[in-house]
Amino acid sequence: MSESDDTLGALNHVAIVVPDLAVASAKYRGLGATVSEPVGIPDHGVTTVFVDLGNTKIELLHPLGEDSPIANFLAKNPAGAMHHICIEVADILAARDRAVAGGARILGDVEPKIGAHGKPVLFLHPKDFAGTLIELEQA
Ligand code: CO
Repeated sequence: MSESDDTLGALNHVAIVVPDLAVASAKYRGLGATVSEPVGIPDHGVTTVFVDLGNTKIELLHPLGEDSPIANFLAKNPAGAMHHICIEVADILAARDRAVAGGARILGDVEPKIGAHGKPVLFLHPKDFAGTLIELEQA
């Protein structure tokens, strides 16, 4: 393992929960962005739209199916709101151990899960990061 395997890398995406994907997609297209078609990810209970920003992307999220993990968030934020930011790491276990050693809490299970992009992810508790939910994704 190199010395930098546990450090933060690039911003992979900013995720925004929206009440209407078509309306939100049209707004970003109206700003000249390249916007994908909606992609349903039933295993994660979300439908996603990707807004390509070149150096990173915005993920527009909407609940899919019952028990969506973002259903409560949308109920509390009916107009939509930023949900999390995702930062790439080279080694998710090393990054987790460093975060925990620094006093950060991991949301839920401390073992990485396979995220919506098929890569291992963990979430750091927003109370430890000024109200921002942080997803770490092994790039
Ligand atoms: Co994400």
